[in-house]
Amino acid sequence: MKTDSKNLKLRLEKFLSEAGVASRRHAKQIISAGRVTVNEEKIFIPGTHINVDTDVIKLDGKPLCLVKKKVYLALNKPAGYLSTVNDERNRPTVLHLLHNLPFRVYPVGRLDFDTEGLLLLTNDGELAHKITHPRYHVDKVYIAWVKGHPDETALEKLRRGIRIEGDVTAPAKVIVSKRTNAHTCLKITIHEGKKRQIKKMCRAIGHEVQYLKRIQIGPIKLGNLRVGRYRRLSSKEVKALKNFSRIEMQ
Ligand code: URA
Repeated sequence: MKTDSKNLKLRLEKFLSEAGVASRRHAKQIISAGRVTVNEEKIFIPGTHINVDTDVIKLDGKPLCLVKKKVYLALNKPAGYLSTVNDERNRPTVLHLLHNLPFRVYPVGRLDFDTEGLLLLTNDGELAHKITHPRYHVDKVYIAWVKGHPDETALEKLRRGIRIEGDVTAPAKVIVSKRTNAHTCLKITIHEGKKRQIKKMCRAIGHEVQYLKRIQIGPIKLGNLRVGRYRRLSSKEVKALKNFSRIEMQ
């Protein structure tokens, strides 16, 4: 995106994502909550156009400007952390795990409070949008330990798509990777990001998830990053991620 043109007009939620505040989808919620002012006037309607060169945009009273330097981090999220920027109930968020960062980043998509694994954080609104929007088909790979032993018929249901809350999930890749006496470890690949999707899919075939971890997003692998630690993505990884979401959208 060009940031140096005169009189550049943007939708408010796009401006917020380009200022490193949140993904476009989450920015709409922030606007509706009345946290954003344009020239000291509270704006509640996402989609409002602002002029980057002349309007003063504030979030919670603090002025914002467009981010020039994009940052991309991979975190191994532990259970017990919210993947949000802040929480009304003051529970720990993933941002508590990033110490003394000189820039603002936000999580790309969500992992549940009790889910572990790969979470990307960035201030690149465009890329965050592509990774999370189902239209771009960016695969997310999960390891799910479920109760009992799902049979082939049940696994096929997951693979073909299953009805959860009135909606049918897109086809998934499902591989059985281990079995113990009481549990089965499934490797599940999906590109959608419905709320608690993996847990709901497994519940729908009668096998509750006991432990869930995300190990890959598109070309980015969790690898041996320790729980609670983060690293910057290499430029090669960023390039791969950008190319991946571009290819997958065609
Ligand atoms: N699916 C879930 O059920 N939970 C997550 O955290 C991610 C995907």
